[in-house]
Amino acid sequence: MIGVILLWVLTGMAAFFTSSRANSQVMAVVHQTALLPLSFQPPSSSWTFIRIKWERMATNGSIPILVCLIDRCKSSRVTHQWWERECLSDKEVASGYQKRADIFRNGTLKIQQVELKDAGIYLATILATGVEHETTVNLTVTEATLASSKADSQVMAVVHQTALLPLSFQPPSSSWTFISIKWERMIASGSVPILVYLIDRCNTSGVTHQWWERECLRHKEVANGYQKRADIFRNGTLIIQQVERKDAGIYLATILTTGVEHETTVNLTVTGGAEALWKLNTENTIRMVLACLTLCFLGLLVVEHVYTSSNLITQRSKIMDQINL
Ligand SMILES: *[C@@H]1O[C@H](CO)[C@@H](O)[C@H](O)[C@H]1NC(C)=O
Ligand SMILES: *[C@@H]1O[C@H](CO)[C@@H](O)[C@H](O)[C@H]1NC(C)=O
Ligand SMILES: *[C@@H]1O[C@H](CO)[C@@H](O)[C@H](O)[C@H]1NC(C)=O
Ligand SMILES: *[C@@H]1O[C@H](CO)[C@@H](O)[C@H](O)[C@H]1NC(C)=O
Ligand SMILES: *[C@@H]1O[C@H](CO)[C@@H](O)[C@H](O)[C@H]1NC(C)=O
Ligand SMILES: *[C@@H]1O[C@H](CO)[C@@H](O)[C@H](O)[C@H]1NC(C)=O
Repeated sequence: MIGVILLWVLTGMAAFFTSSRANSQVMAVVHQTALLPLSFQPPSSSWTFIRIKWERMATNGSIPILVCLIDRCKSSRVTHQWWERECLSDKEVASGYQKRADIFRNGTLKIQQVELKDAGIYLATILATGVEHETTVNLTVTEATLASSKADSQVMAVVHQTALLPLSFQPPSSSWTFISIKWERMIASGSVPILVYLIDRCNTSGVTHQWWERECLRHKEVANGYQKRADIFRNGTLIIQQVERKDAGIYLATILTTGVEHETTVNLTVTGGAEALWKLNTENTIRMVLACLTLCFLGLLVVEHVYTSSNLITQRSKIMDQINL
C-alpha cells in the first residue's frame, strides 16, 4: 500500500515536471547571488498567520530549503505595515543552506554563492489565513566565463604594458558609511581575487567637499600574484602593470556601499607576444621569397647575358668566317 502511494506521489511529481512550465525564469552566475522572486503581501489585514516554504524539486522528491512562519499575532494592535505586527516569527533554514539562504519580507528567496548544482525548479508554498498559493521558479546557473551575457566593457592591452580596467565609481549619496570595492578574475572553476579596497568607520562629524577626503579607516589588500602589479584609482579603476597574455579574460568588480550593491565586468584582451613573433616570421618569409626572386631574376639575367653573348660570338665568328672566305 505504501509502495502504491509512493508510486503515485512519484508519478504525480513527474507529471508536474513535464506538464507545467515554471512561473518565472531566473539566471545566475556561479558564485554570485540568486534571487528567486516572490511578491507576497497578505491579501487582507485580517490575517492571523503566514507560512512561506521554499523547496527545491528533485526527481525523487523535494529538498526543503527554508520555512518562515509568522503566527499568533496580537490582533489588537493595528499597524501600518503588516510586518510590524507583534507576532511569533520563526525562520528555519535547512542544514545545506545555513549560510547561503535567506528570505525577504516579500517572500523572495535569496541564495548566495550559487553553484551549478543549484540549478533546477524551486517551489514556494504560501499559506496564510484563507490563502494557499504556489509559485515555481526555474533557476539556471551558468559558468562565470561561459556567461552568455557580454562583458560591460572591452579593454585591449599590449604585452608588458599597463592595462586600465575602467570603473567610474562615486558614492551615490553623502550619507555613506563604508565602501568596499573588490576586483577578481573569472575562471571556469570560480574566480581569482586580485584586490580589495575598503573604506570604513568614517568620522561622520567632519564634513568635507570631496568624499575621499573623509577621515576613515582605509585598507587595501592585493593578492599574492599581483603584489607589485595591481593598484586601484579613487574611481575604482583597476591598474595592472606588466600585462601578460595569460592576464586576458573577464574581470569582475563588485562594489558595496551603504545601500548599494553593484557589479561590473571587463573583458581584457592582450595582444602582442606570440603575434609579434608571428609577424617577425612573416616578415622573414617575405624577405626570403624576395631574395629568391631577386636571385632567380639575377640568374635569368646572367643566362640571358651568356646566351646573347654566345649568340654574338657565334654571329661574330660567322661574320669572320664570311670575311675570311
Ligand atoms: C528551465 O530552464 C531551462 C533553461 O532555460 C530549460 O531548458 C528547462 O526546460 C526549464 N524547465 C522548466 C521545467 O521550465
Ligand atoms: C522583494 O524585496 C526585495 C528586498 O526588499 C527587493 O529587492 C525585490 O525587488 C522584491 N522582489 C519582488 C518580486 O517584489
Ligand atoms: C534524491 O536523490 C539524491 C541522489 O540521487 C539524494 O542525494 C537525495 O537525498 C534524494 N532526495 C530525496 C528527497 O530523497
Ligand atoms: C572578450 O573579447 C574577446 C575578443 O574581443 C572575444 O572573443 C570574447 O568573446 C569576449 N568575451 C566575452 C565574454 O565578452
Ligand atoms: C579613473 O581615474 C583615473 C585617475 O584619476 C583616470 O585616469 C581615469 O580616466 C578614470 N576612469 C574613469 C572611467 O572614470
Ligand atoms: C571627527 O572629526 C572631528 C572634526 O574634524 C574631530 O573634532 C573629531 O575628533 C573626530 N573624531 C574622531 C573619532 O576622530
